[in-house]
Amino acid sequence: MSRTPTKIGIIGCGVISGIYIENAKRLEAIECVAVADVNPAAARYRAEQYAIPTACSPGELLADPAIAIVVNLTPHRLHRQVGLQIIEAGKSLYSEKPLTVYRDESQELLAAAAKHGVRVGGAPDTFFGGAWQTARKAIDDGLIGTPFAATATLQGRRAPAEQQRPRSASSPTRATVAGAISRSQL
Ligand SMILES: NC(=O)c1ccc[n+]([C@@H]2O[C@H](COP(=O)([O-])OP(=O)(O)OC[C@H]3O[C@@H](n4cnc5c(N)ncnc54)[C@H](O)[C@@H]3O)[C@@H](O)[C@H]2O)c1
Repeated sequence: MSRTPTKIGIIGCGVISGIYIENAKRLEAIECVAVADVNPAAARYRAEQYAIPTACSPGELLADPAIAIVVNLTPHRLHRQVGLQIIEAGKSLYSEKPLTVYRDESQELLAAAAKHGVRVGGAPDTFFGGAWQTARKAIDDGLIGTPFAATATLQGRRAPAEQQRPRSASSPTRATVAGAISRSQL
């Protein structure tokens, strides 16, 4: 029995859009039928590169009744704004990480999705990506013996709105976290 793939569109045709379109082509459940960007040349480039039928503006993509899911690959400071536009157009949203910059913005997206009867999904990469899953499997399968220590480093910068505020001693721009785990803790 043949099944009809769900039609998706992509908003944001920058660096990461290439691998999204390539992977979408490998999946039978979805079909990328349109790509959009505020920069028309960026949308045209990806459409030609991957033989996507339509390169258009974000507004035109959101107005296409055939598209059920829209992938938001815009810069993360725009994830709330573009995510809301997608949801309010009646499309389900799949967002690149982070879902939004601030937690309350993500809650706003989820509330809007509930109101419009659509779904929200987010790329689990970074925290649940291949690197960490591989490391976990190496431990679980005993490939590296019994670990007796671990260390981690986290670096970040303040979110855009935070950068407008004066810096205080309690809001460092960079944080480093390191820890060691004893054999009994693993
Ligand atoms: N580059 C990576 O390796 C990578 C990896 C993982 C996740 N990400 C995430 O993916 C997202 C996009 O990253 P990128 O590297 O592709 O960025 P990018 O800057 O290369 O591309 C972003 C695109 O969005 C377009 N855009 C900006 N505002 C828009 C709007 N309002 N409507 C439609 N299009 C708009 C820009 O014109 C640009 O083409 C970010 O959230 C980033 O954190 C990137």
